[in-house]
Amino acid sequence: MASPRGEFSSRFGFLMAASGSAVGLGNIWGFPTNAASNGGAAFLFVYLILAFSLAYPALMAELIIGRHARANAVTALRGISRGPRTRMLATVVGMGGIVTVSLILSFYAIVSGWMLAYFLSSFSELMGWTSPAAWLTSGSAERDAIFTLIFVALTIYVVTAGVRRGIERWATRLMPSLLLILLILIVYVLTLDGATDGLRAYLVPDFSRITDPRLLLSAMGQAFFSLSLGVGTMLIYGSYLSRRENLPTVGGLVALLDVGIAVMAGLLILPAMYVALAGGIAIYDDAGGLIAGPGLIIAVLPALFDSMGMAGSLVALAFFLLMSIASLTSSISMLEVPVSYAVENHSMHRRKAGLLIGAVIASLSLIIVVNFGWLFDLVVMLTTEFSQPLLGFFFAVFVAWIWNRNSVLREIREGSPEVEHSLFWRIWPFYIRYICPAAILLVFVQTILL
Ligand code: TRP
Repeated sequence: MASPRGEFSSRFGFLMAASGSAVGLGNIWGFPTNAASNGGAAFLFVYLILAFSLAYPALMAELIIGRHARANAVTALRGISRGPRTRMLATVVGMGGIVTVSLILSFYAIVSGWMLAYFLSSFSELMGWTSPAAWLTSGSAERDAIFTLIFVALTIYVVTAGVRRGIERWATRLMPSLLLILLILIVYVLTLDGATDGLRAYLVPDFSRITDPRLLLSAMGQAFFSLSLGVGTMLIYGSYLSRRENLPTVGGLVALLDVGIAVMAGLLILPAMYVALAGGIAIYDDAGGLIAGPGLIIAVLPALFDSMGMAGSLVALAFFLLMSIASLTSSISMLEVPVSYAVENHSMHRRKAGLLIGAVIASLSLIIVVNFGWLFDLVVMLTTEFSQPLLGFFFAVFVAWIWNRNSVLREIREGSPEVEHSLFWRIWPFYIRYICPAAILLVFVQTILL
C-alpha cells in the first residue's frame, strides 16, 4: 500500500464534500431552465418526488457499498460479488465508472474553464482593463485551452493534497461561501424590475404538463446527474465516512442540500432571465423555449450584467465565482475516482497518480477543445445519457440482487443500530430492488429511442 486510507474528520466535512460533489453546474443552470421549460412548479413538484424516491435510494446504495468496502469502486464491487461471473461484471462496472467519470471531467473542465475566464473578465472590467476583459470572453480555442488547463491544475492541486487536507478542507471552505453568495445574489436580483415574472414562470405550476412523459424523464435524468450517481463518486466518498455515522441520515442530508440548492438556484436564474427580458434581451430561442445551457450562462446572463453598468460587473463577479466554486467541488470528486483506484490497486503515490491521471484528462479536454464542434456534445451525450444510467442500473443490481441482504443490513446498522425497525428499512430494499432498476431502464430505453 502506498499510503493509509483517508477518512473525513467529521460529519460536517463529509456533508460539505458530498454536497459539494452534488452541487455543480447541473444544479445552477440545468435545473432552473429545465424547470422553466417543463411547466414551472409542476417540474419542481415531480423533481422533488423523484429525487427523494429514486435518486436518494440510489445514493444510499453507493454510500453503503463504499463504507462497507472502504475501497474504490472496482475493489468494492468485486468484494460483494458471489462468483467468478459477477466478479467479472464488477470489474467491468467499476472500470466503466472510472472511464466514464474521467470523460465527464474532461468536458466539465472546459465549461468550468469558461466560468473561471468570465470570473476574471468581470474582475478586469472592474479594474478598467477592457482589452483583457474582452479577450477573456472571446470564446477562442486558445482561451478555452488555457483555462481548461488552469482548472484541471486546481483540481489536481486539491486532490493530491489528500482526503482530509485537500478535499475536505476545500469543500468546508468553499461550500459555505457558495451558499452565502447564492443568497446575496437572490436577494439582489429579486429587487429588480421583471423579477416577479420570473418567479411566476418558476413557481406557478402548469399541471397540464405533469402527464407529459418528457417531463418525467428530464426530471429523472436531472436528479441522477445532480446527485453524481452511477460512476462511483458517491461510493468513494462513502468509503471515507466513519462507521459511527448514521448512513440513512447523512445520505438524506446530502440529498436535501443538493435539492435545496437547486431549488434556490431557480430563485436566482429565472428571475434574472425575466429581468433581462424586461431590459430588452432575448431569452427565448427560435423554437419558443427558454434559452438553456451554455447559451443562457455565457450569452443571456452576461448581456444582462452588461446592461447593469458598474453594479453589473460586481454581480457578474459574484455569479461566476459561484459557478467556479460549484464546479471545483464537483470536479475534485470526479478526479478522486480514478486517483483512489490507482493509489489502492496499483500502489501509486497520490501525488503521482493525481498528476498522471490529471494530465491524461487534460489531454482529453484539449482534444475536445480543438474538435469542439462535433466532439463536445457527443462526449456529453455518451457519458451522461448512455453510460451513466447504465452503470447506475448495475450499482442498484449489485446492492439489491447480488450482495447478501444480511450484510447490507449489518453495514447500515453501524451508526444506526435501530435501523431495522425504521421506515427506511421498510421501504428502501424494495425500491433499490425493483423501482430503481426499472425506472433507470425506462429512462435508458426512452433516451435510446428518442
Ligand atoms: N453533480 C454534479 C453537478 O450537478 C456533477 C458531478 C459530479 C457528476 N460528480 C459527478 C456528474 C459524477 C456525474 C457523475 O454538476
